[in-house]
Amino acid sequence: MGMTGLSDELAHLKKHGRLRQLDAVSEKQGCNVVIREQKLLNLSSNDYLGIAGDKELHHRFYACLNSDSLLVNYGMGAASSRLLTGDTTNSHLLEDLIKTSYAKEACLLYNSGYHANIGILPALTGKADLILSDKLNHASIVDGMRLSAAKFIRYRHCDYEHLRALLEKQRKSYRRVIIVSESVFSMDGDVADLGALVEIKNHFACQLYIDEAHSVGLYGEKGLGMAEQQNQLEDIDFLVGTFGKAFASVGAFLLCSERVNQYLINKSRSLIFTTALPPIITSWNIFIFSQLAQFSQQRKKLKRISDLLRKTLRDRQLQTAGTTNIIPVIIGDDQRTVKLSEAMREQGYLMLPVRPPTVPVGTSRFRISLTAGMDWCDLEYLADKIATLVNANDPC
Ligand SMILES: Cc1ncc(COP(=O)(O)O)c(C=O)c1O
Repeated sequence: MGMTGLSDELAHLKKHGRLRQLDAVSEKQGCNVVIREQKLLNLSSNDYLGIAGDKELHHRFYACLNSDSLLVNYGMGAASSRLLTGDTTNSHLLEDLIKTSYAKEACLLYNSGYHANIGILPALTGKADLILSDKLNHASIVDGMRLSAAKFIRYRHCDYEHLRALLEKQRKSYRRVIIVSESVFSMDGDVADLGALVEIKNHFACQLYIDEAHSVGLYGEKGLGMAEQQNQLEDIDFLVGTFGKAFASVGAFLLCSERVNQYLINKSRSLIFTTALPPIITSWNIFIFSQLAQFSQQRKKLKRISDLLRKTLRDRQLQTAGTTNIIPVIIGDDQRTVKLSEAMREQGYLMLPVRPPTVPVGTSRFRISLTAGMDWCDLEYLADKIATLVNANDPC
């Protein structure tokens, strides 16, 4: 595309309310952020446990910083891939800690959930294989499927009868079939039935790949995620968790068999051809993971305020969905969603518009995500404010 083509495309995106822009945060104050000197309640972050805004926790982490620990535990760069000299004792400590907690054979770190999802599926599947993916799975899973030589088909969102029907028809034509689903869906805040998926994968002799990006830290007694809460840990063949959300950090991990682990170390391009996570990040991930079980108060509070907000939105006839701390408010039209988002911002709420291609056409929305750093008094008037604006703005 020539330069004129780029300008035209940008103008087109702007005209249709789909232009994306960067917007620097200058300060963080608990669950608030400051952008262009305006303090806003941040309803668009993935800091689900309120860790990113917890200064006391950060002070505790840095309290062990001294000249001996500086480079090993707080260094800023691994300086090469794990396959060269970027591998560290800390990376292995973190992997051991995670695999022991999940009672799985092996754990493998990736630099992010995106790296994991684009690196695992293409390495494990080839031309003779099939990937069946929930229609609403994240873009990183879609990109992973595109990079794979396997055929992929998307089944209707959480429609396990559709999944079954596809398998009845297709299973025998393929060597290996992997079913892929998120456990908590990132844009709708609804939850997959992992028991149903396990039953299907066993029945059709498939493998199951679950992305727990939005659930690690938030569910289960130990905070391991939805697979722990739904008691399905044992039967998931590939479980991906991320540190970028509830851990307020960066990185990801895969739980799998030892054989798969060894194979990926040899074949997974997004693991091999990139610089390893910095020491400071692996240290922080160990620090948070080792106290995950202790965040149960935060988990309870998050559930309480999420249930309450969802109820108040429904009471005001706003269209929402799901059951978790990710609470969509579906508006529909792209331009209208952008305008409403701007109006909410004027009132001190940061609720960024989510538009296609992130969500299906005609379902532009606010994706309100609550964090345990918030109190009900922060949210009390939110549904009223949205409802007033939506009604004032109603095109009919
Ligand atoms: C379901 C899902 N998987 C993976 C990712 C990517 O994770 P990361 O931010 O660690 O790259 C996201 C990010 O939003 C996600 O929603």
